[in-house]
Amino acid sequence: MEDQILKILSEKFSTIHYKSFENEKLSFSSRFIFSLLKNPNISYIYKKNKGFCIFSINKEEAEIITIAVMPKYQNQGIGFLILNQLEEVLSKSNCNKIFLDVASNNIIALHLYKKAGFKKFGTRKNYYTNLKDNKVDAILMEKVVNLKK
Ligand SMILES: CC(C)(COP(=O)(O)OP(=O)(O)OC[C@H]1O[C@@H](n2cnc3c(N)ncnc32)[C@H](O)[C@@H]1OP(=O)(O)O)[C@@H](O)C(=O)NCCC(=O)NCCS
Repeated sequence: MEDQILKILSEKFSTIHYKSFENEKLSFSSRFIFSLLKNPNISYIYKKNKGFCIFSINKEEAEIITIAVMPKYQNQGIGFLILNQLEEVLSKSNCNKIFLDVASNNIIALHLYKKAGFKKFGTRKNYYTNLKDNKVDAILMEKVVNLKK
C-alpha cells in the first residue's frame, strides 16, 4: 500500500488508540503504527473512524498487537465484530491459533476476549505500568481457530 495512505491510516489509528486507552503510557504514536503497518507480516482491520485491530501473522500463529474502539462507539458490539472479522481473515490463511496479552485490570477487554472464546494460558508479572506508575500483570490468552481445516 502507498506510504501516503498508510500514513493517514496510522494517524487515525493513533488517535483512536490514544482516546480509547486514556493512558499516554500505553498510547502508540502514529510513527510507531506506521512502522508496524509497513511490516509485511502485519495487517489490520478497520471500522471507519470507530475502531481497529492490528495483528501479525507468522506461519500458523497470529497475534493481536492492539485493538481499540473510540469511546463514543464502545459497548455497541464493534470490538466483538472486529474479532469475528479477524477470524474470517485468518480462515483464508494457514493460521490455527491467535495469541494476545491483556492487562489483568482491563475488565472490559478480558470480558470481550472470553466472550470471543479466548482462554488464559499464562501470566506475565508486572508487565504493564498504569497511570499511577503501578505495575500490572499481563494475562496471556489464546484461541484455536480454523478447526475445520
Ligand atoms: C476493549 C474494547 C476494544 C472493547 O470494544 P467494544 O466495541 O466496546 O466491545 P463490545 O461492544 O463488542 O463489547 C464486548 C463486551 O464488553 C462489554 N462492554 C463493553 N464496554 C463496556 C462498558 N463500558 N462497561 C461494561 N461492559 C462493557 C459489552 O457489554 C460486551 O459484553 P456482553 O456482550 O456480554 O454485553 C474497547 O473497550 C476499548 O477500545 N478499550 C480501550 C482499549 C483496550 O483496552 N484495548 C484492549 C487492549 S488488550
